[in-house]
Amino acid sequence: MQRPKVFVTREIPERGLRPIKARFDAEVWTEYAPPPKQLIIQKAANIDALASLLSDKIDAEVFDAAPNLKIVSQLAVGYDNIDVKEATKRGIYVTNTPGVLTETTADFAWALLMAVARRVTEADRYIRSGKWKVGWHPSMLSGRDIHGATMGIVGAGRIGAAVAKRANGFNMRILFYDVMPRPELERELKAKPVDLETLLKESDFVSVHVPLLKETYRLINEKRLKLMKKTAYLINNSRGPVVDEKALYEALKNGQIAGVGLDVFEQEPTPVSNPLLTLDNVVVAPHISSASLETRSKMAEMVSENLIAFFEGRIPPNLVNPEVMKVRPLSKQ
Ligand code: GLV
Repeated sequence: MQRPKVFVTREIPERGLRPIKARFDAEVWTEYAPPPKQLIIQKAANIDALASLLSDKIDAEVFDAAPNLKIVSQLAVGYDNIDVKEATKRGIYVTNTPGVLTETTADFAWALLMAVARRVTEADRYIRSGKWKVGWHPSMLSGRDIHGATMGIVGAGRIGAAVAKRANGFNMRILFYDVMPRPELERELKAKPVDLETLLKESDFVSVHVPLLKETYRLINEKRLKLMKKTAYLINNSRGPVVDEKALYEALKNGQIAGVGLDVFEQEPTPVSNPLLTLDNVVVAPHISSASLETRSKMAEMVSENLIAFFEGRIPPNLVNPEVMKVRPLSKQ
């Protein structure tokens, strides 16, 4: 029997690649940079499955070129790069890798938070550039206290809640804003649900953990940045377009907020000419919040598990568009 054909858009960790190669007729894009869109379209012509990354734009154009495509298995929890509506219409299953990256991503939000509040990257640059000429000075590189401050979580789902849990260990007052009630956060962390305006006005740290949707596009805009305290910090490791970068630059330049930690950008990779990179109170990383060896391995394994489940006629464990089952009922392939 012919094995289903899979195109894997990058070399994912072995723990996922091995089972994919064992079970499917797999082709892997081995370059470090993503395959160009045109190449994905070309490959789409005769594949049954696609293992994608968040940097691949998988839309109607790809689906139109893919008459046999039945499933897109993405290595990421976010899937705003995939047009799920178009996929569902065509009976294409879409899966992601939630859960396993929650704690790792929350750790990194904290890494950004601590780095910007305590000026860690600035201090590193200070030494390396030869500015450390005086052994100790009472006001050298003073930052702000984290413990005991107010943490505002925007989007208190899995990752937001894990960030809040860590805030509890720092003895912080925790506010959160979410479109869903989160009674467990109120109960377990004494976190207080508030509207976004209150959160922005009262928090010393605002950490953003929402998916990118129509409703969250530029959620943190000029008007909302103006609500924040001058001494407050913003952390974003969700998706870049959730924050209006231009407005953020203005807010930082004009001293409207104290600093920002960013792992995500409106455009990725962000150009080195991004004006945010000229500011010392900006800590940046290239979208690596879930990048621990352990977590990336688990994510890759989930990519393979979702593919294998589908072709064995089982519901993929991380199906994001269950309504697709009506369009293409499951069957062993
Ligand atoms: C990373 O950004 C992810 O969505 O997993």
